[in-house]
Amino acid sequence: MINAVGAPQSMLVIGATSDIARATVTQLASAGRLQRVVLAGRSGAALDAEVERVRRLGVPLVTSHHFEARDRAGHEQVVADAFDAGEIDVVLICFGVLPDEDRVRAEPLAAAEVVDINFTAVVTTLLASAKHQRAQGHGVIVVLSSAAAVRGRASNAVYGSTKAGVDALASGLGDALQSTGVSVVVVRPGFVRTRMTAGLRPAPLAVTPQDVAEAIAANLTLGSRTIWVPTSMGWVMGALAVTPRALFRRLPI
Ligand SMILES: NC(=O)c1ccc[n+]([C@@H]2O[C@H](COP(=O)([O-])OP(=O)(O)OC[C@H]3O[C@@H](n4cnc5c(N)ncnc54)[C@H](OP(=O)(O)O)[C@@H]3O)[C@@H](O)[C@H]2O)c1
Repeated sequence: MINAVGAPQSMLVIGATSDIARATVTQLASAGRLQRVVLAGRSGAALDAEVERVRRLGVPLVTSHHFEARDRAGHEQVVADAFDAGEIDVVLICFGVLPDEDRVRAEPLAAAEVVDINFTAVVTTLLASAKHQRAQGHGVIVVLSSAAAVRGRASNAVYGSTKAGVDALASGLGDALQSTGVSVVVVRPGFVRTRMTAGLRPAPLAVTPQDVAEAIAANLTLGSRTIWVPTSMGWVMGALAVTPRALFRRLPI
């Protein structure tokens, strides 16, 4: 169970090699209470290294599961295997790709693959996680949305559309789960300095994976909600959401 100050005992991380996921595991392990972490990701050296890293953080039981977002038939089993081995207090859904917008606009099938990874695989893993946490009667599911979910932009229409889908599903599901003991935290970061954004010019209000991790940890006991990282990004995007479209499309964003 998650204690009163938001320290969980068990965790399933889907997208375990993500920079944001790694920072979040470190943050949650720092409370010294994590007993079991299940790391789901594409098998390989990076996943093996993450297992070793989390063990070194002091977590007694760390296991890994192969997870390929494009293999939707396998998703329910990945989640089921994690819950079969015991309760999971926190599920962190933290995988995704940021495509080259010009390329995916020119190649519709490549755009569809981005949708499979960023949206369809979140649908399957989120719904499967909610089913298992409802059965155990408690838990928190943390889902990485994005500030990009709020309004379609010319510079990242395909990525933004996948995040809008994720955001709508996670927000609606969180409301549906009210009073069940299960909550869904929707995380909307702006620009985060990670492998995903390496080589890109940082946007205003850029943050680090540690900033995202701290925001997640601070919100684990507060029920279904949406969190912005940084908080001020919420005000910026609130203003952009109501900016007249003729003006919005001329903004350099
Ligand atoms: N960075 C930002 O500015 C930002 C802002 C808002 C939201 N987010 C969201 O935050 C989440 C984490 O992103 P990040 O910044 O931490 O990026 P990251 O370090 O590049 O991590 C991306 C993760 O997605 C996994 N992944 C990609 N394709 C996959 C596939 N086909 N099957 C399974 N796993 C796959 C990667 O696995 P491999 O290691 O195997 O490649 C990696 O674990 C994403 O949902 C992203 O959209 C990021």
